[in-house]
Amino acid sequence: MRSGDYDAVIVGAGIAGLTTALQLTPLRVAVLCKGTLGQFAASDWAQGGVAAAIGTDDSPRLHARDTLLAGAGISDDTIVDILTRDAPAAIETLLGLGASFDRDSDGELVLGREAAHGRRRIVKAGGDATGHEIVKTLISAIHHAAHIDVIENTAADDLMLHDGRVVGIYAHIQPSAQPLLLFARATILATGGIGRLYRATTNPPQACGDGLAMAARADAVLADCEFVQFHPTALAIGADPMPLVTEAIRGEGATLVNDLGERFMPEIHADAELAPRDVVARAIFDQLRRGRSVGLDATQAVGAQFPVRFPTVFASCMSAGIDPRVQRIPIAPAAHYHMGGIAVDAWGKSSLPGLWACGECSATGVHGANRLASNSLLEALVYGTRVATDIHATQTSPMLHPSISRTYDRPCGDDDETQAVRDLRHLMYANVGLVRTGSDLRDALDRIATLTEEHPYAKTELRNLLVVARLIANAASERCESRGSHYRSDFPLPDAALAHRSFRRLTSVV
Ligand code: SIN
Repeated sequence: MRSGDYDAVIVGAGIAGLTTALQLTPLRVAVLCKGTLGQFAASDWAQGGVAAAIGTDDSPRLHARDTLLAGAGISDDTIVDILTRDAPAAIETLLGLGASFDRDSDGELVLGREAAHGRRRIVKAGGDATGHEIVKTLISAIHHAAHIDVIENTAADDLMLHDGRVVGIYAHIQPSAQPLLLFARATILATGGIGRLYRATTNPPQACGDGLAMAARADAVLADCEFVQFHPTALAIGADPMPLVTEAIRGEGATLVNDLGERFMPEIHADAELAPRDVVARAIFDQLRRGRSVGLDATQAVGAQFPVRFPTVFASCMSAGIDPRVQRIPIAPAAHYHMGGIAVDAWGKSSLPGLWACGECSATGVHGANRLASNSLLEALVYGTRVATDIHATQTSPMLHPSISRTYDRPCGDDDETQAVRDLRHLMYANVGLVRTGSDLRDALDRIATLTEEHPYAKTELRNLLVVARLIANAASERCESRGSHYRSDFPLPDAALAHRSFRRLTSVV
């Protein structure tokens, strides 16, 4: 069996994982990626940008206020302060690494507007290709970093535990399935989100909640699992995953119109198309449930400028035969971001000694019940750095090599997993999606339990998806109120007594 010793092992190579890896110099670091470096990272697909209060009319305090409002009363104020205060420095660090952000004719950074932001504060690259620019910048720095080993085409299976401490990971190399044991003083999960759990998603198929599931099996404390954000505008052309149609287009004035030509958002919210994401997503979902279709009309607001302003969206539309300069863009809501995850403190430390988490798989408390647009890349940058800082400060534990008493037994899989994944994704969208009820959630939990029993040896994807599905459905069934992205039609209002985050361990989930 192949094995290796590192100061730190990082699972995941999106913006959070790569930032941590770079900042851990001179420690010896391994970065595991499921594909090649940069491949499959949701960060690479991010269009919107990085929110940072750098405009002359802006301040971290105003950014914090918008973040707290979007979070619907349960964001952690201290963490929100850290994030918004550290945002300008995160942009400076990227500029220092050579990131090329959009600038105006005076050479100033262009600041975009997105929903629920009171100011223009979104730093962008290539119009709508910000994630790609940042990932490209970080990868280029990684190539020059002698302290980092990138281990490609390798999937992590489980955390390695010794006396309650995380001492590394069990993994396997793909496609050979050769086992790999990595021992580490510090293990960092930066595995991204859970979008694959839903039949409609903007996430890459590799976003299976791997880190969350691994931490759950190791009995780490998890937080806010019920809060899944649906992006209002994913391109509805039958593709899986669905290409994102960035919110920045609504920020420039594009409107949502149903197939009767009716603009429905102004009567639902004072901010109309720029209302919080959950409000817009549910309004569109409601139109779809009533048999209407919905389009985003950017013909007036963006028009002929579309190919220059939003080249990624333009290319997706044109490849489906839609010209957004003159036609409405067909859209539908899709699972986009998980606010819940591995509970971590202000430095990204989990409840398990030896384990840190950052990026989407973590729950810092910043996003509350609903993430503010363009705060996710920001959180990955800020927390990637904070995790590294904390590891530098606490790097005292000896390298432990627990004797592997059992043959490392990687899940081997069974025949009909493809169908099970398909069934699970439909179930989650229907019963644990934008609009939930107690009885739908109970049915979902029963079906998830049956699927788990039917697939005791499921391979990585189904094995992890089933754990995460159970956590989300359980948390959603326990929160008997509506708050942010979690909407219960049987409890349609917020309950002041429930205005707090939720914490659980897998072992306490029935
Ligand atoms: C978008 O571009 O609409 C997505 C931005 C985000 O999810 O923060």
